[in-house]
Amino acid sequence: MSEKLWGGRFEKGLDERIDALNRSFPFDQRLWREDIEGSRAWAGALERARILTKKDANAIRKGLKAVAKEFESGSFEEKPSDEDIHTAVERRLTEIAGDVGRRLHTGRSRNDQVRTDLLLWMKRAYDACDEALTAVQRALVGAAERANGIIIPAYTHLQRAQPVLLAHHLLAYIEMLDRDRDRLTSARGRADMLPLGSGAATGTAFPIDRRALAKDLGFRHIARNSMDAVGSRDAALEFLAVTSIAMTHLSRLGEEIVLWASAEFGFAQLGDAVSTGSSLLPQKRNPDGAELARGKAARTVGNFVGVAGALKGIPLAYNKDLQEDKEAVFDAFDTTVGTCAAMAATVDGLTFVPERCAEALRRGHLLAVDLADYLVEKGVPFRSAHGVVGSIVRAAEEKGCDIAELDLATMQAIAPQIEKDVHTWLTIESSIRRRSALGGTAARRVKAQLTRWRKALG
Ligand code: ARG
Repeated sequence: MSEKLWGGRFEKGLDERIDALNRSFPFDQRLWREDIEGSRAWAGALERARILTKKDANAIRKGLKAVAKEFESGSFEEKPSDEDIHTAVERRLTEIAGDVGRRLHTGRSRNDQVRTDLLLWMKRAYDACDEALTAVQRALVGAAERANGIIIPAYTHLQRAQPVLLAHHLLAYIEMLDRDRDRLTSARGRADMLPLGSGAATGTAFPIDRRALAKDLGFRHIARNSMDAVGSRDAALEFLAVTSIAMTHLSRLGEEIVLWASAEFGFAQLGDAVSTGSSLLPQKRNPDGAELARGKAARTVGNFVGVAGALKGIPLAYNKDLQEDKEAVFDAFDTTVGTCAAMAATVDGLTFVPERCAEALRRGHLLAVDLADYLVEKGVPFRSAHGVVGSIVRAAEEKGCDIAELDLATMQAIAPQIEKDVHTWLTIESSIRRRSALGGTAARRVKAQLTRWRKALG
C-alpha cells in the first residue's frame, strides 16, 4: 500500500496491483522539464491573482529550481508515492520549500497540467522531427548529385516501365519528406494552445489571467473550452499520424535501398559503415538500417492505432485511458528521430553502380511509349499507335531483342509510317530529353529542381 497525495478521503491505501498499472512516473518523468516550467508559470499566475504572496511565489520558484536541478543531475530520488511526474514534483517541492509547496496546486488539476506538459513537450518534439527529416532530405540531395547523369528504369508494378534519371527518382522522396515537414508545422500550430487554467473539467475558480499565462509559457492560443482542453487528445493523435506518414515514406525509401543493394538490382552498394554482416554467412552485406526503417514504420502506425482505439469510446472529459497517449508519443518520437538519423547515414553511404543501371535499361522495351509517341508525331492516333507498338513488342520478343534494337524492315512491315529517323528517336537519352514539361525527368528540369533543393536545404 502506498501513501498518495490525494489520499485524504480514503481509509486504506491503494492495492499495489492497481498502483502498478496506474503509475505513469516510470515513463512520464520524461516531462519533468515541462512540468516544472508549467508549475513555475502557474505560481506566477496565482501570484498575479493574489492567491499567492510574492514571498510564497518566490519560495515556490526557488524550490522548483532545486527540483529541476535534481532531475537534471540525475539525483532525483523516486518515492513509492510518486504516482506520476506531477505528484513527484509537488512532493519534492514541498520537501524542499516546506509547507508553501502545498499551495501550488490551488485551482489547478493534473488534468490541465498533463495536457500542458505534453503540448509543451510536443512543440519541441515537432521541431526536432523537422530537423531530423531535413537531414534525410540533405542526404538525398547529396545522393542525387552523385547520381549525376545516371539513368535507371522507372518501375510501375515493379516492372520496368520507362527510363528516368536516378536523381529524379531520389528527388521524389525529397518532395514527400517536404510535405511531411509541412504537416509537422501545421500540426505544431494546433498543438500551440494553452490548456492550463481549465481545472479538472469546468475551468478554474480563481481569477487567473490565462492570457498572461499563455504568454509566460509561449503558447500562441488559449483553449476556449475547458472540457475540450482536458478531455481531448487529438493533438497526440495528430503527432502520431504525422510521424507515421513520415515513417511510411522512410519505409518506402528503405525498401528502394534494399532492392537497389541486392545482387538482383545492383544499382547501388552500401558503404561498410552502413552495412551489417551475418553471423553465419561470411559474404553478406546486409542493409539493416534500411530494413529497420520499414520495420519501425509499423511501430509508429501501431502507436497511432493504439491511441485512436483508446480515444474513440471515451466520454468527456478526463478518463485514465488518456494516460496511454504519452508512451505512444514518446515512442513515435524516438522512432522517427532515430530512423531519420539512420536513413540519412544510409543514403550518405550509397554508391551508385552506373554499369548495372545501364544494363537494366537494355531489356524491358522501355522505349515502347516513345515509339507510340513517334507514331503520333507521324499522324497516327495514339490508341492505334498503342496497338501497333504492342505488335512491334511481340515481334521483338520473337527475335529475342528489345524494340530499340529491332531492324527497320520488321518495324515497317507492321507500321509503314515508321522511317529511318526512328533510330535516333528511340534512344534512352532522347526519351529523357523529351520529358521536358514541368515535373518531368528531362535533365534540365531535374537540374533546376536539384539547384532549388540545394539552395533551400543548404
Ligand atoms: N498521469 C495522468 C495522465 O497521464 C495525469 C492526470 C491524472 N489525472 C487524474 N485525474 N487522475 O493522464
